[in-house]
Amino acid sequence: MTTTDNRTTPVLSLSNYSIRFATPDGEVQAVSDLSFSVEAGETLAIVGESGSGKSQTFNGVFGLLAKNGRTEGEARLEGADLLKLSTRDLDRVRGRDMAMVFQDPMTALNPTLKIKRQLAETLEVHKGMRRREAEAEALAMLKRVGIPDAERRIEQYPHELSGGMRQRVVIAMALLCRPKVIVADEPTTALDVTIQAQILELFAELTGEKTALVLITHDLGVVAGVADRIAVMYAGRIVEEGRVDDVFAAPAHPYTAALLGSIPRVDRDTLGVDPIPGRPPNLIRPPSGCAFHPRCGFAVERCTTERPPLDRVEREGAGPRRAACWRAFVDAAKGTAKGELAHV
Ligand SMILES: Nc1ncnc2c1ncn2[C@@H]1O[C@H](COP(=O)(O)OP(=O)(O)O)[C@@H](O)[C@H]1O
Ligand code: SF4
Ligand SMILES: [Mg+2]
Repeated sequence: MTTTDNRTTPVLSLSNYSIRFATPDGEVQAVSDLSFSVEAGETLAIVGESGSGKSQTFNGVFGLLAKNGRTEGEARLEGADLLKLSTRDLDRVRGRDMAMVFQDPMTALNPTLKIKRQLAETLEVHKGMRRREAEAEALAMLKRVGIPDAERRIEQYPHELSGGMRQRVVIAMALLCRPKVIVADEPTTALDVTIQAQILELFAELTGEKTALVLITHDLGVVAGVADRIAVMYAGRIVEEGRVDDVFAAPAHPYTAALLGSIPRVDRDTLGVDPIPGRPPNLIRPPSGCAFHPRCGFAVERCTTERPPLDRVEREGAGPRRAACWRAFVDAAKGTAKGELAHV
């Protein structure tokens, strides 16, 4: 893990990035005005409730949006704007410089090909390796991601492997070309808790020195210990962004605080979850002002009319932080609205 104190060149950086979907009912404002970046060796977690725009953000970056969707703004991979690349050039970049790992490993695997072939093909296509060399490299990577008996497994078909093993194969495939950035979209959601932990550990180990990892999850519980930084999304916007430790210690945004409150905890009775009251907003006609105001226990008049910008907020002893809230840190400051000062 790295810290963000010594900022280096970002690997992937989005600015003023938006996604709109055209539908018969109107335009869905799925992602609005995102600006953030991720650096080499860094793990950035993107969290938020279902429907907050996490997946579409990166589908747009990878050129995988549905036909009715369009992107605006910039998404740069080491300087080159991915949104301006031809389909052919984007194909070349995908798999070689950036890779995506999905919740369901079968979406990335071809059921009719042996593991050996799918892995080796990636290297043959993107790195121009010969078959022999590619297969040897594939085997080495399977071992690295902790597949036991890899010599036998590599000769099998995807359906012969368990879900956890398949996800390891997909991760091996993503890592094969040593991409600059890996985006993992809910990579552990379909797996049982023990395997989840192993996969997350694997990511932490493998991203190591150079690769940037974006870990998308609706579950804040998987973020601690894995990510360096966290960006919290609500209704298609980033509402808070900062170092994981800082955000967990004292969330600046009431929505983050609510999310943290809804992490299942073994030390609580009943179901152990405090759900956030209310529902995520309609993105065709989002609420005025702060989109969270209908659900926010701290809302004041201003919140219903004026949208808070994602501004830098300060907290003693903590690292760089941005939050979009007129009353940032109001919760942590126990209702004294101390954080309001950060905006005036
Ligand atoms: N093809 C589409 N047409 C219209 N709306 C879409 C389409 N695809 C996704 N959306 C909407 O975009 C929003 C963001 O979706 P998504 O990024 O998948 O959320 P998340 O990954 O955070 O659960 C949702 O409101 C979803 O309904
Ligand atoms: S701006 Fe207002 S409504 Fe939005 S999160 Fe902050 S206090 Fe709540
Ligand atoms: Mg999603």
